[in-house]
Amino acid sequence: MAATTTPEEWRAYYQRGVGKPPWETLLNALDRFDADRAIGHAVDLGCGGGRDTVEMLRRGWSVLAVDAQAAAIQTLLARPELAELGARPDTRVSRFEDARWPETDLVNSSFALPLCPRAGFLEMWQRIHDGLRPGGRFCGQLYGDRDEWAGDPTNSHFTRAEADDLLRGYEVEMFREEETDSKTLRGKPKHWHIFHIVARKP
Ligand SMILES: C[S@@+](CC[C@H](N)C(=O)[O-])C[C@H]1O[C@@H](n2cnc3c(N)ncnc32)[C@H](O)[C@@H]1O
Repeated sequence: MAATTTPEEWRAYYQRGVGKPPWETLLNALDRFDADRAIGHAVDLGCGGGRDTVEMLRRGWSVLAVDAQAAAIQTLLARPELAELGARPDTRVSRFEDARWPETDLVNSSFALPLCPRAGFLEMWQRIHDGLRPGGRFCGQLYGDRDEWAGDPTNSHFTRAEADDLLRGYEVEMFREEETDSKTLRGKPKHWHIFHIVARKP
């Protein structure tokens, strides 16, 4: 959804996401930590209704979940899985450009970072890297320059070369470029250009 999405549309989107599985990039990153028998602390930037946050909690991670929409945090905290697991994330209603967090092992951001204007993006991207412990990972999506929303000043889009540049401080463990014609979460046709990323800080 574009950054012009209203709070009501976000709320409906969060409800639709309850019960949906975690994203592939998060599962890929968590499996890599599992292989090292490592469990730690994660930050979920733009957590939405919490489909990824719940998976991290289920695997024993502590999680700080951040979203600009209060409805996202409300949806997350109302999820029945939290009571079932006896686990609860720390939460913050904040734009991720303004959020600060302690050193962490994993920053997950599924389909959210591109919704940050390009002007603030690089500073935030650097903060994500700086705040990861050695061996920590970033997982999530960036949008490519052929995405239909490219040019919207409220979003950030990158060429493949720019994405490679952004990942210079990392060992890239997964990079899948997807270009498809499908629909937005509002049901409108859209051309998507997405980079799905898992990257480890050496
Ligand atoms: C497409 S949704 C994805 C939600 C969730 N990560 C998921 O995969 O279900 C994007 C989320 O990012 C949040 N978001 C967008 N821009 C943001 C910003 N600048 N700071 C914090 N959250 C933001 C929105 O409120 C929304 O919940």
